Amino acid sequence: MPDVILEIRELQASAAGKEILRGVNLTIRAGEVHAVMGPNASGKSTLAYVLAGREGYEATAGTVRYAGNDLLAMPSEARARAGLFLAFQYPVEIPGMTTLQFLKAALNSLRKHRGLEELDAIDFLALVRERVQLLDVDADFLNRPLNAGFSGGEKKRNEILQMAFLDPKLAILAETDSGLDIDALKIVAGGVNALRSQDRAMLLITHYQRLLNFVVPDYVHVLLNGRIVKSGGKELAVRVEERGYGWLEEPGDRIFAPKVTP
Ligand SMILES: Nc1ncnc2c1ncn2[C@@H]1O[C@H](COP(=O)(O)OP(=O)(O)O)[C@@H](O)[C@H]1O
Ligand SMILES: [Mg+2]
Repeated sequence: MPDVILEIRELQASAAGKEILRGVNLTIRAGEVHAVMGPNASGKSTLAYVLAGREGYEATAGTVRYAGNDLLAMPSEARARAGLFLAFQYPVEIPGMTTLQFLKAALNSLRKHRGLEELDAIDFLALVRERVQLLDVDADFLNRPLNAGFSGGEKKRNEILQMAFLDPKLAILAETDSGLDIDALKIVAGGVNALRSQDRAMLLITHYQRLLNFVVPDYVHVLLNGRIVKSGGKELAVRVEERGYGWLEEPGDRIFAPKVTP
């Protein structure tokens, strides 16, 4: 069995005093691609934020272990250094710094923490060329200030390139709720597919069932009202696409209750 990379046990979380996650369980092993999907307000963003350590989102019970460590006790930088990549974490615009400069700084800071030599300009550009080719992305935006005026598609390309550069052990890609067009979905899917590997795990948190037409996850989980109520293979995403979420109920509710014979 491949190593467990992420293990979430009975995770509860709240924001502004509101209980949102109500006992999430999820185990992800090296090499696996998991998708968590769910309707609006089911807690998808909250799950992503808790894993990212975003302020205002508090884990109130349960555990999250990442590569054997207590993830919830790690500062965000330590999470990144330990190979956790969170795609939605960098929506910031940094005027005066091009995307390329940002990528170089991010990569070299990570290499430094891993005890590797920093890449010089020439080696860095060679790596850029290689990754851009691997991902087959249009890289014009690399010379523009980070995120400034980026289209949705460019933001996604940028995220996927960052992921390719930082070579994470676990990549968490959470969709923002703002509209992603089909091209942006394809960019994300193409990146995920290109970067799939035996040593890497990926977690897609999405309300776009369509994303799963382009990425074939190994496991699909449905989050409903703060709990994973159903897990399955890729066919689960297809069923949800066809039937919506209405047929799924929380454990303890009627469809899971034992049949009472009169
Ligand atoms: N910061 C917050 N303060 C109060 N309520 C919040 C906050 N963030 C999320 N919620 C509430 O928690 C529920 C789940 O939200 P969210 O995690 O964004 O779900 P999803 O991403 O699945 O749409 C929603 O009812 C939402 O209004
Ligand atoms: Mg959300």
